[in-house]
Amino acid sequence: MEEPVTGAADDEEPTHAVIATRGLTKRYRGGQLAVDGLDLTVPAGSVFGFLGPNGSGKTTTIRMLMGLIEPTSGTARVLGRPVPRAARAVLPQVGALIEGPALYGFLSGRDNLLRYDAADPTADPRTRPGRVAAALDRVGLTAAAGKKAKAYSLGMRQRLGLAAALLQPRRLLVLDEPTNGLDPQGMREIRALVRELASDGTTVFLSSHLLDEIEQVCTHVAVMTRGRLVTQGPVAELAAGARGRLVVTTPDPADAARVLKERGATDLVIAGDRVTAEPPDQDPAEVNAALVTAGVRVRGFGLERGSLEDAFVALTGEGFDVAG
Ligand SMILES: Nc1ncnc2c1ncn2[C@@H]1O[C@H](COP(=O)(O)OP(=O)(O)OP(=O)(O)O)[C@@H](O)[C@H]1O
Ligand SMILES: [Mg+2]
Repeated sequence: MEEPVTGAADDEEPTHAVIATRGLTKRYRGGQLAVDGLDLTVPAGSVFGFLGPNGSGKTTTIRMLMGLIEPTSGTARVLGRPVPRAARAVLPQVGALIEGPALYGFLSGRDNLLRYDAADPTADPRTRPGRVAAALDRVGLTAAAGKKAKAYSLGMRQRLGLAAALLQPRRLLVLDEPTNGLDPQGMREIRALVRELASDGTTVFLSSHLLDEIEQVCTHVAVMTRGRLVTQGPVAELAAGARGRLVVTTPDPADAARVLKERGATDLVIAGDRVTAEPPDQDPAEVNAALVTAGVRVRGFGLERGSLEDAFVALTGEGFDVAG
């Protein structure tokens, strides 16, 4: 699965990363530092979640990766080739959905796709109608394909943008907030589609401000705040790094809470027969033994698995839904 991504010229050493940036920085003309020294590595075959609150620099990064805007400094490689320099060679292998897909409102969804495909010099006109029909079907738009795009809802536009990215087999899909504007059922469909594409071997890089969504579909994640990368790596590793809460189930909750407190546990919460706490910095077996020694009848004792949200809060010291 991990075949090397090789470039043509000698400055383009083989790499397993499908996207690699070094010190990638964008300062907009108004002075806004939108992306600040980004070192991003997206492994081949991953479903890579690019997570960050509104305004954290996700779309700006994606625009640089797709050669739509020039970085202020730093470098970016996509499929082993430098962008924006080699963008023309690379981009036909990349399907992209970027914020607010441009549509011709007076054309139907199907005609928009036919036109979009016709603008791609690498697309075979003979297979065009079939590929357009297949892409419409994949995103669930077949029934609405004849409707004018100006009459499309936000979710339908989003699906059409995704269909455009799927007109040809791609080695990489770059999706900026692909579930934006979709209802819960639509979100599920897109998640299923992303998994299906990934199982065919396509690397998927998708941005989102929804932690939940990233946890459900991604193998890897990078977290942005205010233009800077806070962390990146496999989702499972990141979530495991977050310490979960200690949970004790007992008919003696008050006694249990007292003993846990003596042992250094903090943020104790008693709810019925459940006592939860931030665990003290010692072997959980010792804590359990202390409870039993103190005569607490322990029915259940364990550490809840940390979530990505816990990891995020631990990393940034803030909740997730904050403006960047
Ligand atoms: N064309 C522009 N000119 C000036 N500043 C911009 C421009 N586009 C974005 N910015 C600023 O750059 C920062 C990052 O914006 P960006 O759109 O990359 O964030 P984002 O993570 O995609 O946010 P969202 O989740 O809302 O889509 C923001 O502070 C934004 O105001
Ligand atoms: Mg954005």
